Amino acid sequence: MKIIKKAQDLKNILLSVKKSNKSIGLVLTMGNIHKGHLSLIEEAKANNRFVLVTIFINPTQFNNQKDYNSYPKTLENDVKKLQSLSFDLLYLPEVNDIYPKGLIKKKSVTKYRNILCDKFRPGHFDGVTTVVDIFFNIVKPNNSYFGEKDFQQVKFINELVKIKNHKINIIECASIRDHLGMSLSSRNSKLNKSQLEIFKKLANKIEKLIDLIKQKNTKIKLEDFKKDLSKININKIDYFEIRDEENLEVSDDCSVSRLFIALYIDKIRIIDNFKLY
Ligand code: PAF
Repeated sequence: MKIIKKAQDLKNILLSVKKSNKSIGLVLTMGNIHKGHLSLIEEAKANNRFVLVTIFINPTQFNNQKDYNSYPKTLENDVKKLQSLSFDLLYLPEVNDIYPKGLIKKKSVTKYRNILCDKFRPGHFDGVTTVVDIFFNIVKPNNSYFGEKDFQQVKFINELVKIKNHKINIIECASIRDHLGMSLSSRNSKLNKSQLEIFKKLANKIEKLIDLIKQKNTKIKLEDFKKDLSKININKIDYFEIRDEENLEVSDDCSVSRLFIALYIDKIRIIDNFKLY
């Protein structure tokens, strides 16, 4: 695995890769690498002759400076974990390389708005689609890999590809889950011991809820379940909803739906989604 930081080095390497007609698989990350990222890279390796991974903590997708500053930065460890995978290239750009004209974000996608994370993190997806568009224009990969943990994000990226006419296949990869059944996430690494206890209780409750929903379809009162979460010290819930996984509309047909959740354990935001079929 070669590591580069300079935009010019990336350009030179991509030029020679393209000359040799190798297919390029791109995995974009913000670091704090976990098994979820590693599975995306494995998938990219299995289906491309050249695999490029990036680590770039994108400032424009955070809702405030504090959240950006406190995002886990674990570069040394990340490199160690990535080295064991032996893919081709790791690119670590600086903010100026990606945003030479300043931290401007564009609103290009209009679908899937004012629901789920877009409702509670206004502007977040504009930051995501802006940075993904920048990387797509620089790299022009054949395939790019994203995890279903960020389900709405993948919807936005698919829309971006349509709108900007990128000739890139977006490969959606299933979440990698921990032994509790929750999706792995970089933010979860910030949970301390007592917060982890709450997380475990949450996982347990969700598992039971999903079993119940599957048995009784959606005739389950999610409002009661949400109220109940205060008993385990979860007091801030952005959303807890069942939505159609195709169009993200609220649905009562479990055969096509997922349970989407975003809530806080203290100040740590947990997001996840669970298939109901
Ligand atoms: O999912 C993420 O880690 C980020 O949103 C992404 C896609 C790397 C863009 O910064």
